[in-house]
Amino acid sequence: MKILVTGGTGYIGSHTCLALIAAGIEPVILDNLCNSKLSVLNRIEEISGKRPLFYQGDIRDSVILDRIFQEQSIAGVIHFAALKAVGESTQKPFEYYENNIAGTLSLLGAMRRAGCFHFIFSSSATVYGDPHAVPITEDFPRSTMSPYGQTKLMIEQMLEDMQTADPRWSMTLLRYFNPIGAHASGKMGEDPQGIPNNLMPYITQVAIGRRDCLNIFGNDYPTNDGTCVRDYIHVMDLAEGHVKAWQVCGEKAGLHIYNLGAGQGVSVLEMVRAFARASGMEINYKLVDRRPGDVAECWADPAKAQRELGWKATRTLDDMTRDSWLWQQTNPNGYEA
Ligand code: NAD
Ligand code: UD1
Repeated sequence: MKILVTGGTGYIGSHTCLALIAAGIEPVILDNLCNSKLSVLNRIEEISGKRPLFYQGDIRDSVILDRIFQEQSIAGVIHFAALKAVGESTQKPFEYYENNIAGTLSLLGAMRRAGCFHFIFSSSATVYGDPHAVPITEDFPRSTMSPYGQTKLMIEQMLEDMQTADPRWSMTLLRYFNPIGAHASGKMGEDPQGIPNNLMPYITQVAIGRRDCLNIFGNDYPTNDGTCVRDYIHVMDLAEGHVKAWQVCGEKAGLHIYNLGAGQGVSVLEMVRAFARASGMEINYKLVDRRPGDVAECWADPAKAQRELGWKATRTLDDMTRDSWLWQQTNPNGYEA
């Protein structure tokens, strides 16, 4: 069985390819490499013994999409390809709407032409905005605070509307919380370009000496230690969540929505301490002003995924920090080109 994985050389997509291969499913990757490197394919092959089929191209290009559906027998699509930097999206809203929204429409159009109606979408906890309570269940009201978040909200709405109008569709919306960590081999991990926006890659780059000091954004939030609380999930747990989602509802017509989180809140200071424990390194940090757009607490109630998909995050915070550190140490500059 073949699944088209858009954005499959990216951070979450590449780890999901490993999980798909382990489950006997063949990933076919489409990626334009705007935020990933071709050498990821070598690593997937080293770990799994299989090299995924790869098409270099853009989801906005209907010619390549039609070609893939003609050349391969695609059972379904897992759609990771997107631009994802929240801050950048406020500077370049056109690029975000064009890539993420127009790209998704182009992909859905090609699927309809090919008669493929099985779609899994990478959504985000960002669709919960500033939640009125934690933990967050899937029925919480949706809102968002950035153009990036808008693209996720709008796409969710498009998928719902299309599924209502044409019940042949299976639309699965997976709302990820904060993926971190790396494959336990240290051969694959997160490889942000430029200055990392997210906490874990920033911490590992401070530890390896690429950055001087972690800025902790705000210590006056209404949380236990004043720093923000998030739901960090190991990227391999997240990857396996996609396999479960495919196996349980990927081909079942309907709208399926799941939180994929560990269900545990961890503060920024707790994360810094956990990383120090795993690495034996002290992280140089300073407390600075809040980052605009951050919410105090955001963590999932993942019970629905456990109940209906039989999926639960199993890896601990120590697994996440240890694997992130191993990846960073063995690949101090990320993937080669
Ligand atoms: P990533 O940037 O590592 O991977 C995205 C991949 O998509 C990259 O390889 C990029 O080259 C490719 N891509 C982007 N636009 C494309 C286009 N027009 N055509 C073809 N390929 C294109 O990001 P990631 O962290 O792996 O995230 C994957 C998905 O999960 C994204 O949709 C993201 O919004 C979503 N998500 C990520 C997080 C997170 O914390 N990483 C959290 C919630 C949701
Ligand atoms: C961010 C995005 C979210 C997106 C997710 C994955 C914002 C407001 N939210 O989530 O929409 O889905 O990334 O891409 O950007 N922190 C520091 N110092 C740093 C970096 C982060 O203190 O250098 C803190 C942040 O203030 C936050 C926590 O660490 O409290 C986690 O930050 P981050 O990894 O960026 O994830 P989110 O903000 O939760």
